[in-house]
Amino acid sequence: MEESGAPRNRLNASREVAPVSLPNCRLIKGIEAGSEDIDILPNGLAFISSGLKYPGLKSFAPDKPGEIFLMDLNEDNPRAVELRISRGFDLASFNPHGISTYIDRDDTVYLFVVNHPHQKSTVELFKFIEDDNSLVHLKTIQHDLLTSVNDIVAMGPDSFYATNDHYFSDFILMFLEMFLGLTWSNVVYYSPKEVKEVASGFYSANGINISPDRKYIYVADVLDHNVYVMEKHANWSLTHVKTLQLDTLVDNLSIDPHTGDIWAGCHPNGMKLFYYDPENLPASEVLRIQNILSEQPVVTRVYADNGSVLQGSSVASIYEGKLLIGTVFHRALYCDL
Ligand SMILES: *[C@@H]1O[C@H](CO)[C@@H](O)[C@H](O)[C@H]1NC(C)=O
Ligand SMILES: *[C@@H]1O[C@H](CO)[C@@H](O)[C@H](O)[C@H]1NC(C)=O
Repeated sequence: MEESGAPRNRLNASREVAPVSLPNCRLIKGIEAGSEDIDILPNGLAFISSGLKYPGLKSFAPDKPGEIFLMDLNEDNPRAVELRISRGFDLASFNPHGISTYIDRDDTVYLFVVNHPHQKSTVELFKFIEDDNSLVHLKTIQHDLLTSVNDIVAMGPDSFYATNDHYFSDFILMFLEMFLGLTWSNVVYYSPKEVKEVASGFYSANGINISPDRKYIYVADVLDHNVYVMEKHANWSLTHVKTLQLDTLVDNLSIDPHTGDIWAGCHPNGMKLFYYDPENLPASEVLRIQNILSEQPVVTRVYADNGSVLQGSSVASIYEGKLLIGTVFHRALYCDL
């Protein structure tokens, strides 16, 4: 995964976006300050994290704590409902980032949330109570190897893989990675019994997800414009299988549980995301990657917008012929496919 040579344009400063539209797109009411990450349960309930405050990035609600929204995608016109969080959890400093769900054998739904209270990195574990749309906080996970967590994929009721991107631990380090091409970002496996680094050498490991057969882990390297395919082994270690190079900053990955297709929320021009200018808005782009393990993966631009509708798409997730697109700090868009 290492690469030497001249520094590349990791932020894709200049790429302009030819629009690709979808039918029946509508913005989701109530989501105004980001929909950073989305995870959809097999029954169509979608969890959305909102209100991320990221150093150096725009926020439309800088004084409002983060929130987790729920949408029932089985409804004709789904609304976003804010989930109530149990007492005892520090809501004022809630700064949610990547999320992941896990359904236990007894059908309990666990929600893992990467949190950045006071610029630190923690993983919060919640139990979802569907009867009253609430989250019960079970525990806060912190570890020396979870230095600057970006995203997470749950492996069990208390275990996960997480990507570290250095953003919160060391902003300067992050910029060195960007401009000098240092590759110090990694993937960590966490369980209460064992915590270890399982892959390293990324510029900025961002979104992480797992194939439906649970054999492969996919990691998006946002600054290297790549998706890495890693094979998962019995001892949780990961080995590199292949790398798919893309001409865009790949943020989050979601997986179609039926086809195994990868859906990626991307930033076609990262500079506009980091230097927010209302006159020159950050664009949105959604890619579908089919047959990533084959010789000829098929990459399709399914949606693209110059920012006039949707700014800074970070994730795209599908359910029953519908596409839900989230953003780093803007709104959320729901379209027919
Ligand atoms: C989604 O993208 C954001 C934006 O950088 C990232 O921080 C987050 O962890 C990602 N989550 C998933 C599930 O990929
Ligand atoms: C963005 O796209 C919309 C429609 O696709 C177009 O009307 C508008 O002029 C574009 N804006 C810029 C700044 O290119």
